[in-house]
Order: sequence, then C-alpha cells, then structure tokens
Amino acid sequence: MKVLVIGADGQLGTDLCRVFKGQDLISLTQREIEITDMASVEKAFVKYQPEVVINTAAFIRVDDCETEQDTAFAVNALGARNVAVQSQKVGAKLVHISTDYIFGGEALIPPDGYTEFDNPVPLSVYGKSKLAGEELVRCLCQKYLIIRSSGLFGAAGALGKGGNFIETMIRLAREKPELRVVNDQVFSPTYTLDLASKISQIIDTEYYGTFHITNSGTCSWYDLARETLDVIRIKTPLIPITSDQYPQKAKRPSNSVLRNYQLHLLGMSQMRPWQEGLKDYLKEKGHTA
Ligand SMILES: NC(=O)c1ccc[n+]([C@@H]2O[C@H](COP(=O)([O-])OP(=O)(O)OC[C@H]3O[C@@H](n4cnc5c(N)ncnc54)[C@H](OP(=O)(O)O)[C@@H]3O)[C@@H](O)[C@H]2O)c1
Repeated sequence: MKVLVIGADGQLGTDLCRVFKGQDLISLTQREIEITDMASVEKAFVKYQPEVVINTAAFIRVDDCETEQDTAFAVNALGARNVAVQSQKVGAKLVHISTDYIFGGEALIPPDGYTEFDNPVPLSVYGKSKLAGEELVRCLCQKYLIIRSSGLFGAAGALGKGGNFIETMIRLAREKPELRVVNDQVFSPTYTLDLASKISQIIDTEYYGTFHITNSGTCSWYDLARETLDVIRIKTPLIPITSDQYPQKAKRPSNSVLRNYQLHLLGMSQMRPWQEGLKDYLKEKGHTA
C-alpha cells in the first residue's frame, strides 16, 4: 500500500511518517507540494500514484486566520479541495485531518462531547475554513476519512505555531515567577503518536466517513499546564484565569470535547488517557528520565 503524507515535517505529519516507516511511504513537505496550487498537487499525484493520501497540511494559526482570512480559506478549504480532486482521480483513499474548532457555536453543548453526527457551528475563521475543507472533501472524493482531533502535542511541535502549548508552558515556567492559564476552555489533548497509530489502524479497514479521534479524558488549558509542570516537577505557581482575562483575536469554544463515538459504534478500542500520552511525550522530549 503506497501511502502519501502531505505536511510530512509538521507535528502530526512527522509521527505519521514514524508509524508508516518501513512501508511504501512518500513524505512530502510544502517545498515539494503546494496544496493551494492544483497543478502542484496534480504533478505529485501523477508522479507517485498513491493508494492512500493523508493530508495534514493546514494554516493552523487560529488568531492569524482572523486577519488572514484569504490564506485560511485558500489552504484549509481550497487546498483540501485540490487534494480531494486529485485523490479521486487516482482512486486513492483520502484521510483528511480536521479539528474540534468546527464546533462551539451551537445553542446546546452535548454533555458527553460532540459526536460525528452533531451539526457543527464554528466560532472562528479557522473553524469555518476547516469545515469548508471537510465539506469539499465529502463532495469530491468517494473514499474519504475525515479525522477530527484536538489539542495536538507531538515531538516535532506544530510547525505552523512554532512549537506547542506544552513546550510554551515549560519555557515560561522556567522564565517567569508565576503563570496565568485559561481554565474555562475544555477539550481532549491528543498525543500525535497515538493519533497516528490509530489512523493507521482505521486505514486498514473498509470504514469511511467522519471519525473523532482524541486521547481519552478532558481538561482545560490550566489542567494541561498543571499536569505538565507536576510531572516534570517545576514548582512555578499557576493561576487559573477566564478567557475574558486573556483576550485573543479568535473566539474559542468553551467546550470542544469530541466524543469518539464512531470508534465505540464500530467496537474499536478507545485511545488511552491524555495523561499517559503526555508522560510519554515528556519522556520523548527529554523533560523526564
Ligand atoms: N495543532 C493542533 O492543536 C490541532 C488540533 C486539531 C486539529 N489539528 C489539525 O491537524 C493537522 C496537523 O496539525 P499540526 O499541528 O501537525 O500542524 P503543523 O505542525 O503546522 O503541520 C502542518 C503542515 O502543513 C504544511 N503546510 C501548511 N500550508 C501548506 C500548503 N499550503 N501546502 C503544503 N503544505 C502546507 C506545513 O508546512 P510549513 O510549516 O512548511 O508551512 C506543515 O508541515 C491540521 O490539519 C490541523 O488543522 C491541529
């Protein structure tokens, strides 16, 4: 099975390449494929003739999407379209990566988390552009898997963000006398190596459609920072604050927990708790022995 990973040097892309190592893997970075350019995508697909395509490429800087709306839609919606069109043309199975931020604006938040069957109402340009990308994938490619995840952390760090939340917390905790962290946004943090392994399992099935895949359990950004500093034994005081006390350009969901309902319905195993993923991540990064 010939697998093409787009965004191969990104946070998730790097771990996907680790998981698929030893198989027939083609890993492409933005230097080799520009997803906003149909000709560039077509050229790569004609050259490599992939059987499975995993598209992790996105413009992920949520606040910058508010002011750089054209780029957000060009990459997250039209880029997704270009990959879907070319996947359909070569008959490949397309795995498209999406986000919990397509939710948040609904009148009622489901108490057990959003399922794949809930209707999304995004709050931000990032969320809207990612939802538009999903819709194009559904229309244009027959054999698709849309995988929504949340709060990614992986050893490579998010290229688009210049790192990830955990590394930022560790750095700031070493530099500052105290940290103030938002405590009223709840989600499920997810270790990209766990996500990549689960994606490889689902690819091996005949299941298609939309999947929510996150580590188990939920927490706030404050809880995630608390657990991180506790595990690596940094004593810097952490102060919980509200989103109002930390204004950002883009509105974030107060609760974007994704219930991994398809995995449940299909009798597939759920992912391990996020705290276990975090421990392995901190070890991998050399923060613990
Ligand atoms: N990070 C999160 O917390 C999070 C949460 C939920 C869902 N997601 C989704 O998960 C996916 C992966 O996120 P990530 O954290 O791994 O992000 P990342 O580290 O920024 O990786 C994204 C990759 O896409 C590439 N890319 C960006 N624009 C491109 C373009 N126009 N053409 C080709 N390649 C392009 C980037 O290359 P350059 O760096 O060279 O531009 C990078 O390699 C995204 O679809 C994102 O929406 C992320």
